[in-house]
Amino acid sequence: MRIVVGVSGASGIVLAERFLEALKKLKVETHLVVSETAEEIRKHEGVGKLKADYVYNNKDFFGKIASGSFKSDGMIVIPCSMKTLAGIASGYTDNLLLRAADVCLKERRRLIIVARETPLSAIHLENMLRASRAGAIIMPPVMGFYYKPKSTGDMVDHTVGKALDLFGIDNKLIKRWKGR
Ligand SMILES: Cc1cc2nc3c(=O)[nH]c(=O)nc-3n(C[C@H](O)[C@H](O)[C@H](O)COP(=O)(O)O)c2cc1C
Repeated sequence: MRIVVGVSGASGIVLAERFLEALKKLKVETHLVVSETAEEIRKHEGVGKLKADYVYNNKDFFGKIASGSFKSDGMIVIPCSMKTLAGIASGYTDNLLLRAADVCLKERRRLIIVARETPLSAIHLENMLRASRAGAIIMPPVMGFYYKPKSTGDMVDHTVGKALDLFGIDNKLIKRWKGR
């Protein structure tokens, strides 16, 4: 499998770190593009340098992931800022991350948007609806308590496991509900 991972300037860069680590363990080929602000927030949030099999410059539209002819099993934007969400929803592809996401929509490939903001304005909600109608899956990193998390790490893992599930990748990060 081959997955494109976009990281934009929202809080929660640890989600991207854990997602990339999980894909590495699962031997999934990763193509990473990180926005300029995401790189700043990564340092601010104390997350180590993000690692992937292939790393692209967000300003370089010559990167492979800019073309629909480059095959992939889809893309995740984790975390996704409201600005990047707006870019995806409007097809305004002025950086490589946005272009790669736009490619996924036009090629009808899976696009998971881990939209991170709270509370949400009507603009955010409308952009989510627009992106969803175009084929994206909106997956905000919303906390769950039913699986009895003991740490924020457990919560991060659960969210990452959920995203893996959406790519059809079986994993042990998500605590599956087994009934009462
Ligand atoms: C520390 C920090 C945290 C931020 N967190 C969020 C966030 O969670 N959600 C969001 O939509 N924007 C957030 N922003 C604002 C975005 O980074 C800003 O809108 C930026 O233009 C996003 O650009 P990008 O999507 O190209 O990375 C944050 C900014 C900073 C400095």
